[in-house]
Amino acid sequence: MTAILKSMSSAIVVRAFVPATATASEWQAYHEFCRVRARDDDPNWPLESDADRQRHILQQWPLGEQFRFIALIDDRIAGNLGVSRRRAGTPDYDLHAPFAWAWGGVRKDVRRLGVATRLLGAAADFMTENRQTTATASTQFEDGRAFFIRIGAVEKLRVMENRLDMAGVDWDAIAAWQQLAQAVEPPLRWEVYNQRVPLDRYETLAPAMSQLFNDAPQGTLEQAPMQYNRATLETWYADIDVSGGNHFLVLLLHGDELVAMCDATWTAQFPDRAFQNLTAVTRAWRGKGLAKAVKARMMWLMRETHPGIKMIITTNANVNAAMLAINRQLGFVQHKDVRTYQISRDQLRLAAAEVRGG
Ligand SMILES: CC(C)(COP(=O)(O)OP(=O)(O)OC[C@H]1O[C@@H](n2cnc3c(N)ncnc32)[C@H](O)[C@@H]1OP(=O)(O)O)[C@@H](O)C(=O)NCCC(=O)NCCS
Repeated sequence: MTAILKSMSSAIVVRAFVPATATASEWQAYHEFCRVRARDDDPNWPLESDADRQRHILQQWPLGEQFRFIALIDDRIAGNLGVSRRRAGTPDYDLHAPFAWAWGGVRKDVRRLGVATRLLGAAADFMTENRQTTATASTQFEDGRAFFIRIGAVEKLRVMENRLDMAGVDWDAIAAWQQLAQAVEPPLRWEVYNQRVPLDRYETLAPAMSQLFNDAPQGTLEQAPMQYNRATLETWYADIDVSGGNHFLVLLLHGDELVAMCDATWTAQFPDRAFQNLTAVTRAWRGKGLAKAVKARMMWLMRETHPGIKMIITTNANVNAAMLAINRQLGFVQHKDVRTYQISRDQLRLAAAEVRGG
């Protein structure tokens, strides 16, 4: 069967999936594929409803645009590929423009038949049209890693996804960790949000938060500096205003100077889990227990706000010894190993042409 299908790689048809103009039956086919793929990847992860998925796919983001390609075998979607493009006219456009983010997957029952390879051609064409030179993609799966190595992509970053079971947390220790902020001289003040951050305040904080983000270990990834951005936040808030969600932000400040931050989110879609994003301390203030303090304050805040949260999920670069040590002490346990690869457009084009014959 495999040999027959392999010899019929022309039976794989690749075309664009355009959310804005997709018909009801095209959407139905796309949702069916996404459900199968989600089950392939992690049968224990709660399945997103078709309505939520459709809303998220149709969502327009201010800084970047996403495009999708599908590969069909016998008119059924076998694989997909998403690729991003920076919007012209956005801040730092020239720095971001060469980079494409890509993601995708192939149904388990039709792997090793050349489906992903056929999609690579679409990615290379897209990058050529948009004058992009480097594609970045991540995977947490053995077959994804094998595929990336085979096409000549280079691993640039390893992160681990860590998960904390809230039932096992030592809340006395968490209370004590929060007090570490009180022991620091000169005195610091807390600024804490558990619903929304006022947009004007966020805009004021954005440059210092961006600096902290860009200072965190990112392996050897080639990328433009990330900027926290008011318009992106506003777009996300508009979504969670409808569907339900919280933006948690815990800050420690010295006067107006940002000293430490911890950022997390919760959405009504997955009510038993919260996602912890960046925790960071300004270099001059490191070594005083402030990462523990903001992290502990955040855990307390999440428990107060949504007592139903059973699990906190975070990702940490494997080289980030400090953050990993703190998370281990809190009881976080490694759940996944996520690797990020980069590949040049020229290598992508070569791989699209050569892998099958290789
Ligand atoms: C990675 C993935 C997209 C590959 O899809 P695919 O259609 O099976 O890939 P192809 O058939 O085009 O494979 C091309 C070559 O890559 C290599 N390869 C792919 N999967 C492999 C595996 N599991 N083990 C070893 N080599 C593998 C092989 O050399 C293969 O050629 P061959 O079958 O002639 O030996 C698929 O395994 C998948 O969906 N994985 C989960 C999601 C994921 O990791 N996505 C990655 C980016 S987000």
